[in-house]
Amino acid sequence: MPTAPSAAPDVVLVVDFGAQYAQLIARRVREARVYSEIVPSTMPVAEMLAKNPKAIILSGGPSSVYEEGAPQLDRSLFEAGIPVFGMCYGFQLMATTLGGTVDNTGAREYGRTPLTVTKSGSTLFEGTPEHQSVWMSHGDACSAAPEGFTVTASTNVVPVAAFENDEKKLYGVQYHPEVMHSTHGQQILEHFLYRGAGLAPTWTTGSIVEEQIAAIRAQVGDKRAICGLSGGVDSAVAAALVQKAIGDQLTCVYVDHGLMRKGETEQVEKDFVAATGVQLKVVDAQDRFLDALKGVSDPEEKRKIIGREFIRVFEQAQAEIIAEAPDETPVEFLVQGTLYPDIVESGGGTGTANIKSHHNVGGLPEDLEFKLVEPLRQLFKDEVRMVGQELGLPEEIVQRQPFPGPGLGIRIVGEVTKDRLDLLREADAIAREELTAAGLDREIWQCPVVLLADVRSVGVQGDGRTYGHPIVLRPVSSEDAMTADWTRMPYEVLARISTRITNEVRDVNRVVLDCTSKPPGTIEWE
Ligand code: XMP
Repeated sequence: MPTAPSAAPDVVLVVDFGAQYAQLIARRVREARVYSEIVPSTMPVAEMLAKNPKAIILSGGPSSVYEEGAPQLDRSLFEAGIPVFGMCYGFQLMATTLGGTVDNTGAREYGRTPLTVTKSGSTLFEGTPEHQSVWMSHGDACSAAPEGFTVTASTNVVPVAAFENDEKKLYGVQYHPEVMHSTHGQQILEHFLYRGAGLAPTWTTGSIVEEQIAAIRAQVGDKRAICGLSGGVDSAVAAALVQKAIGDQLTCVYVDHGLMRKGETEQVEKDFVAATGVQLKVVDAQDRFLDALKGVSDPEEKRKIIGREFIRVFEQAQAEIIAEAPDETPVEFLVQGTLYPDIVESGGGTGTANIKSHHNVGGLPEDLEFKLVEPLRQLFKDEVRMVGQELGLPEEIVQRQPFPGPGLGIRIVGEVTKDRLDLLREADAIAREELTAAGLDREIWQCPVVLLADVRSVGVQGDGRTYGHPIVLRPVSSEDAMTADWTRMPYEVLARISTRITNEVRDVNRVVLDCTSKPPGTIEWE
């Protein structure tokens, strides 16, 4: 890793015209190793320009340029001398704003569409085939490019499917180069960035780490900071970055609520500490959580109890750290693993996010008097994993699948007891081991293993009849956990998991597969 801290990265702005294309475009730009940020289309052009962007991309959107109230863009954006790339709606807006013709033809194109490159050697299409497949989604069609533009591609339906004005550095395509179905989409985007805008692919994981370390040092100075570790990827990477920046000025707190899976607490206590050298305060609160959960079966009630206890324990640990501080240096900062999608989705492309409710366990109190350090607030999840790798964090932490903060507490249907937790931990460990051995970790989004503690059924094991509990396997495939489908796992893997669990875990005589999508089912059983 280079040592000298670099200046802020060159930024490409992605102007968001709605329908969630902007996030994908921003990700694709970053895959090209150029830093990008999303801004709403309602942001005044002067404000966009004040961000000193090196290039601007106009996203697609759900509207027609002719619709009343359709988002517009001030012409001055195209006259600022900054390279601009319009995609789909952004392309049509560019066309109409600059004097081209977009007709409301009623000729719709939707889905995979053959595109013909009509001008070889153009900035965008250089080195790509004459015939390529692109993803279209539009009603209106551009029939004449603005003056000074060259038409570079067409389809059977639209005569002007791409254009460019190389002198003014303005480019546009009618389709969505950001989606996988556009076979040369990434290449075309990179041509815009590297050839059109003259940017270099310098935004690497190493440069992110470097920048963040410099920024954290500048923010925290010689003060102290606290970070809660949940065992998840985000808090681990945030803590590792801050530790790298300010060393022992950071103290991490890990609340062991006893609801973690097998080996996870040890991962934090040993492997994470070994990899980062972080000062860690582990609070063993297992008994406290078990006591509080005694006799409770209702899932919402359990969540509330776990959340409440977590906050109490965390606050207590925090007070102790402050009291035990080796010198008078105040603890002024709280480190949070807030990610870029959290910020975009909460509507704030800029500004400071509120203290995110501890998303693993349900809400830190709002009156905490801390300043926030959020070193991941520019990053997407996969980028966070890459940063974690760069920082040398253990693979088991960096590649961890999502796991709910209330932990196994909501994977026991019925009362949570120590015995039941131990039993579920064993079954879960077997399932995870077999899924990993079968190479399914990346294919499966997550696989909750659930104990139906309130259900018993008859089985026959060894020499006799048993009356045991079922274990449910819930493997799901998903992109964002909002919707999911059950994963069609190989039967042999299911068979191995089932055999091992029923042989190795006492009191379990049945393993069942949950084959419900979400909706209607949720991912967790609770
Ligand atoms: P459901 O069960 O609602 O879960 O389909 C969607 C995703 O959220 C995870 N999940 C949680 N994550 N704290 C978390 O950090 C929670 O309280 C929580 N509850 C559910 C779940 O594992 C799935 O990935």
